[in-house]
Amino acid sequence: MSIDTPPITPQQYEVLHGGGAEAAEIAKQRLSRRRFLRRSMLAVWGISTTASVAGALYLLYPTLSGQFGSTQVVGKKAEFPAASPGQFKIDAAGVFHKPVARTYVVHMSADTKFLLTGAALSDQLSSEQVVKDKDGSYWIALYQRCVHLGCTVPFRDDCESFKCPCHGSHYNVNGEYLDGPAPRSLDRFQLSLNGDDVVVNTGFIDNTVLHPDNTTRLIPVPTIACSAS
Ligand code: FES
Repeated sequence: MSIDTPPITPQQYEVLHGGGAEAAEIAKQRLSRRRFLRRSMLAVWGISTTASVAGALYLLYPTLSGQFGSTQVVGKKAEFPAASPGQFKIDAAGVFHKPVARTYVVHMSADTKFLLTGAALSDQLSSEQVVKDKDGSYWIALYQRCVHLGCTVPFRDDCESFKCPCHGSHYNVNGEYLDGPAPRSLDRFQLSLNGDDVVVNTGFIDNTVLHPDNTTRLIPVPTIACSAS
């Protein structure tokens, strides 16, 4: 049945076709109802169109404040005490998980012993998104996602390294590839220090950190073997 012909009772039909004041009143009511239905349909169409446009804009521009994909202040520098290899403990010393930003903030102390030196070290640090602080310590923001097939990689205090529970990819505390099926080292976000704030740009992912070798590895391989679980 069309919206232009809303249902009427047999009695109304008789009156309507007989004419007169009562017929005019029924006709008026039918007209009002038709207008109401049209306006309702227009309102539903308007709401659904607005929702579709808003959804498309969100997908195109996900960098809304405070959400993954945006630049986020993940904490104050004092909340991330630095550690040297051999001292890292998750959320206590040197490595801190920030699930909202899907990142591990790694803070290595100024006395960290790097395998590289001189220009090789500074080149590697800048190419791998490692930020040197005024006190000589180093900051990195690692993406928590395993570069093999995307599982979240936990930091294991017992091995002082990241070990993926899915297929065993294994990464150094600064995200360098150690072993397993991963095609490269862990990806990194852009990190910056703004006064006392630690800022992570989760809209920028560096996925170019390769498997290191003896000429490119930053810090030593952990000496403790890491079992599957
Ligand atoms: S997803 Fe991490 S090793 Fe496969």
